[in-house]
Amino acid sequence: MREKGRDLNGCVYLVGAGPGDPGLLTVKAVRLLESADVVVYDRLISPEIIRLIPDATTRVFVGKKSGRHLVSQENINTLLVRLAATNHKVVRLKGGDPFLFGRGSEEARYLVRFGVPFEVVPGITSASACASYAGIPLTHRGIARGVQFIAGHCDADAPLDLDWCSLANAEMTLAVYMGLANVDEIASQLIKAGRSEKTPVAVIENGTTGSQRQFLTSLGELPKTVHRAELQSPVMFVIGQVASLAEELKGGQSICVEPPPEAQQLRV
Ligand SMILES: C[S@@+](CC[C@H](N)C(=O)[O-])C[C@H]1O[C@@H](n2cnc3c(N)ncnc32)[C@H](O)[C@@H]1O
Repeated sequence: MREKGRDLNGCVYLVGAGPGDPGLLTVKAVRLLESADVVVYDRLISPEIIRLIPDATTRVFVGKKSGRHLVSQENINTLLVRLAATNHKVVRLKGGDPFLFGRGSEEARYLVRFGVPFEVVPGITSASACASYAGIPLTHRGIARGVQFIAGHCDADAPLDLDWCSLANAEMTLAVYMGLANVDEIASQLIKAGRSEKTPVAVIENGTTGSQRQFLTSLGELPKTVHRAELQSPVMFVIGQVASLAEELKGGQSICVEPPPEAQQLRV
């Protein structure tokens, strides 16, 4: 494959699909899905969104599950360049927002290197959507001054290397992506760094989809909650006082995603 300089007529759109509910796709994303020649998509793209792709469009699944890569990142990068080089309009469909823990920027850098025209179409990131659907504002005047997006998992299962002290501010909401495997360490390190073990935590599994489950617990009880409920990826942790607003704000919403009975018992 030749690097930059070669003329290409194809184009790659790095498109965010949001966390699952097709109603959260942007108008731009829907238009691109309808007009693409090829859609290259990840594991977390919901079946409802896949159904929006016209039958005649080529679909390429390159899904990755933690620890099990069906197609390597290098091969995904190469595939995108090859498809563009053969004049295809390619939609690279990624969960949530492509530039938030989605390796979208790695793919973009590769496209730049090979002179492939591309565009990034932002999507609603799972922290924002899962929290909203669970009735939780990520910030709230007088309760949370800001929010920090954190990856609770490192590449190739390397040990978590987070600056725990910088996460200890009780006025900051923490939205933890990919935190399931390291939940014990996340809870204990945050408490050690100074977060109260009574800090409310919302745990949201399959957020925004018909199978959403949500639990309200505390930082001290978080590992127990996760293990007892046998949660499966994808799961989002929203840690901070804002989580305590869930009951009040969810009650007024018409989104119909109810927590299972055991979650009620775990409420703090
Ligand atoms: C590799 S990251 C990709 C994040 C994505 N780019 C975004 O902006 O949401 C995958 C993680 O996002 C979170 N996630 C994605 N979809 C989710 C959903 N529907 N419900 C809960 N968490 C979700 C989970 O923490 C999951 O392990």
